[in-house]
Order: sequence, then structure tokens, then C-alpha cells
Amino acid sequence: MLDLVIRGASLPDGRRGVDIAVQDGRIVETAAGITAEAAREIAADGCLVTPPFVDSHFHLDAALTYGHPRVNRSGTLLEGIALWGELKPHLTVEAIQERARRLCHWSIARGTLAIRSHVDVSDPRLLAVQALLEIREEFRPYLDLQLVAFPQDGYLRSAGCAENLARALDMGVDVVGGIPHFERTMEEGAASIKALCELAAERGLPVDMHCDESDDPLSRHVETLAFHTRRLALGGRVTGSHLTSMHSMDNYYVSKLLPLMKEAGMHAVANPLINITLQGRHDTYPKRRGMTRVKELLDAGINVSFGHDCVMDPWYSFGSHDMLEVAHMGLHVAQMTGVEEMRRMFAAVTTNGACTLGLENYGLAPGCHADLVILQAGDVQEALRLKPVRLYVIRRGRVISHTPSSVAQLDLDGSPVAVDFRHPAA
Ligand code: FE2
Repeated sequence: MLDLVIRGASLPDGRRGVDIAVQDGRIVETAAGITAEAAREIAADGCLVTPPFVDSHFHLDAALTYGHPRVNRSGTLLEGIALWGELKPHLTVEAIQERARRLCHWSIARGTLAIRSHVDVSDPRLLAVQALLEIREEFRPYLDLQLVAFPQDGYLRSAGCAENLARALDMGVDVVGGIPHFERTMEEGAASIKALCELAAERGLPVDMHCDESDDPLSRHVETLAFHTRRLALGGRVTGSHLTSMHSMDNYYVSKLLPLMKEAGMHAVANPLINITLQGRHDTYPKRRGMTRVKELLDAGINVSFGHDCVMDPWYSFGSHDMLEVAHMGLHVAQMTGVEEMRRMFAAVTTNGACTLGLENYGLAPGCHADLVILQAGDVQEALRLKPVRLYVIRRGRVISHTPSSVAQLDLDGSPVAVDFRHPAA
């Protein structure tokens, strides 16, 4: 007897009426009309079943600090960085863990079961590193948490940061981070990329840098990251996060840059909620959107995934860690509203994210982990439109979160009407 069968699922690729059979934490069959019995059956009843959402870029150490010690008055990136600096001396391991735990609970309820989180290593005490390494282990049965050693104050600019970053890697942080556009000069930014890529090559670790998170059309750190990725044969293991300068770059130069990124085998991560909020702040009108060139990167064959980046922290006062909210913003900002483009935006928070993180056994094929999310929506477009309830969140074949469906009951002159915002076309 099987452990679990989900019956009547719609899948992200458009297939309908599919059953998914689960045994020993793995998917064993995905097909119509599976007759085998199971210890537990869930009727998807035409609802969309997807592998879990993946957040490719997050800051778990800062999440949910909203209001401590004060709110970001201007809402700008630079005041956010200054505010984080004010908050850091007051951090404790316990407080970081209490917030991180709460955020992970939100993630699970939203069906986000993989998160790559940057963790600030500028503070020599490395409290956030210690706190989040423990959280990574505590939540390992439920979600995949990857940690990136992130030198928020600058790898070369901030005294002692290089040593701190190396210590964080010694402690077990998974990925080498960076922030070249925040170093003092373009040359120091380039030097930081070279040093950090060499460190990653030495240690056999992936790289994920905040790279050119600016409106500066002349910033050149993306090309430098592509150069060292290729030089050190790190293809497939290097991610450029944000890349917002690409929005502002000259079109001719981008036509040169995209093939360099493709040749190097870089992943790109955009953070639509944060990019649309923080970029273009010095503009009057027209005001730049700031998000990197998602459609053009994808068309060039480069893997692009999305991150939430922030939830109620010094940089962003909103969010509930809903990756569909991220994809919804992304498709608006990138103007990717075509039928196939909407699927690509859904992939940016699912399969493409799994590719960026290098997750193994992710997906709906037989042999994959039975990590699944059932949504109160009929297809990908409806999921993007409604950002609906995650009816069931399943990890290794076990239901770890359940939310009742959401239906408004109207009473109009005594005639009841149920409203769930679904559309018959979905
Ligand atoms: Fe970030």
C-alpha cells in the first residue's frame, strides 16, 4: 500500500486530472488514474499541485525587525543600511532565532520550503551566523535553508570583514557572498570579486553576490563576476543577485554582457518587490523600475530566479514571505504577461530557484522528494492572480501545513452566494 495519493491534480505544465503517488517520502508515479490504494488520500479536485516555492534570496537575520530601534523614515536603501547598523549592537542570538523561527513558520505555511538567506558577517561577534546555523539544523526536516556569508559593510571597505567571512565559512556557512558595488571604488569592487571567487574555488563552495544593486549604468561588476566565474571554472555555482544596474545600462553594452554571463554559466536573481521599491530613488520622471532585464536574461538562456529579499525589516515594511506575491510583482515589472511568460514567472519562484540553489531531487518526476504544495487555484495563472491559500504543504510525503479553503459567504437579500474568486477558465 502507498503512503499517500493525491488525486485529480492540475500541474504547472498544464496537465490536468493527474494522480501523484508517494512512498517512503518520494514520488513514485505521476499519472492519470492510479488505482493503487494508499494510507492517506487527498482529493486535489482540480487544484494546482506544484513542487514547493523556492526563495533564492533572503535576509533571515534582519527579517521581522520592523520598528527596532526605529522605522526607516525615507524608505531608501541607504537609510536601511544605516538603520541595520544601529540595530546590530542590540542583536542577541535568542532574538535573532525567535524572529527567524517565526519567519520559517510563515514560509512553511506559504509552501516555501527552500530559502537561500544571506547572513551579515560584518559584526565580529558573528551572532547572526551562530543563530542561523542552529536554525538551519532545527528546520532541516521541514525546509532547506542555505546560508550565504554576506559582508554587508564591504569585504574590503570594512576592517576585519575578510577575517569574519572566513570564520563564518569555517563555522559551516554554505555560500560565499559579496557586495562589490559597496566597496570604495570600482577597482576595490573588482578586487573583492576576484578574492571572493578565489576563496570559493579553494573551498569548493558556491558564490552568491549582491552585484551592482544600484542605478549606475556604468557599474561593471557583473562582467567582472562573469570573468572570474569563467576563469576559475565555477560555472553553475555562481549567482549574481539584484543586477539592477543592468536596467540602466546602455543597450549595446548589455548585448555584450548577456553572452558573457551565459558563457560563464552564471545564475541571475532578481528581487522584484525590493528592486521596484528601492531603485530609481534619485529619478524625477520618467522613473526607472530598476529590476534587472529578466526577459532578456531568460531569452539569452540564463537561469533567472526570484527572491523575496526582505520581510518587515530596515529596507521593506511589507510581506508575509509569499513567493507568489514576488512572482506577481515580477511579471508586472518585467511586463511578462504573455501565456508562456506567466509560466516562466511561476518557474522563477519554483524550478529556476531550485536550479540556483542546486537542490537535488526537486520536482514532480518519479524519484523526486515528495515535497508538494496544493493551492486553491486551478492553474498557474490563477495562482499568480489570486496568491491563494496553500491548502496542503507536504514535505517528504507528510502534510506539515494545512489551511482551510477561503470562501466568502454573501447574504444578499436572503439569497446566499459563495465567492472564492476562482474563474471557470482555470
Ligand atoms: Fe539582499
